[in-house]
Amino acid sequence: MRVGKLSVAVDGPAGSGKSTIAKILAKKYHLTYVDTGAMYRAVALKMLRNDISADDTERIQQMLDKTKVKVLFDQIYLDDEEVSALIRTPQVTNFVSIISQNPEIRKYMTNTQKEIGKTENVIMDGRDIGSVILPHADLKVYLTASPEVRAKRRFEEMQEKEGENLSLTLEDILETIQKRDFQDKTRKEAPLTVADEAVIIDSSGLTIQEVVENISVLLDKILDAKG
Ligand code: CDP
Repeated sequence: MRVGKLSVAVDGPAGSGKSTIAKILAKKYHLTYVDTGAMYRAVALKMLRNDISADDTERIQQMLDKTKVKVLFDQIYLDDEEVSALIRTPQVTNFVSIISQNPEIRKYMTNTQKEIGKTENVIMDGRDIGSVILPHADLKVYLTASPEVRAKRRFEEMQEKEGENLSLTLEDILETIQKRDFQDKTRKEAPLTVADEAVIIDSSGLTIQEVVENISVLLDKILDAKG
């Protein structure tokens, strides 16, 4: 289906299915998919590589001045290097929710992401999309699920990727998810919150297809209204 100008914001906690659902919807409605979490992860990776701590404002600013993060569907580039797999390690996962609290990093991301939103038909997923990045989005979805369900999904995802090599247990992943939920919801800058007008979808008991269908009904209505 071809669409006119359309922007969709998908926010929610880790493991709620945001990126899986957003990718399917992007293909269905011909939207540019922007995984904003991956952008934060790329910066976290660069900081780990260069041993930059989360409170070293001066080095962070110097680094940001020389940093280029690009997302092309599910491929992420950091200064022209493809880092799509490298940004998914437990080390980066543990560090990213700490560095995403930094105001300089948020400002850099906000500017970059708002710019993409201005020029393209987008579906963006993250934590502050409906509240900060696309406050006038045509549709805002807050996708959630119970922490246990989210941990189980992440565990199965990692088992599939790493098989026997997976050293993390389901309990480890649940603990990480709860810690990140807390950090993301309680931080000062752009915390994870249900944006005004957002439609809340609890995916705990729903399949991916069911979530996609629910959101498609909403999007079709919006597109009909736009004519
Ligand atoms: O995929 P997952 O849900 O594990 O996380 P992600 O979307 O890759 O985001 C990683 C982290 O980046 C989050 O836990 C947030 O701390 C931060 N983030 C953010 O602060 N704002 C966004 N718009 C997206 C991510």
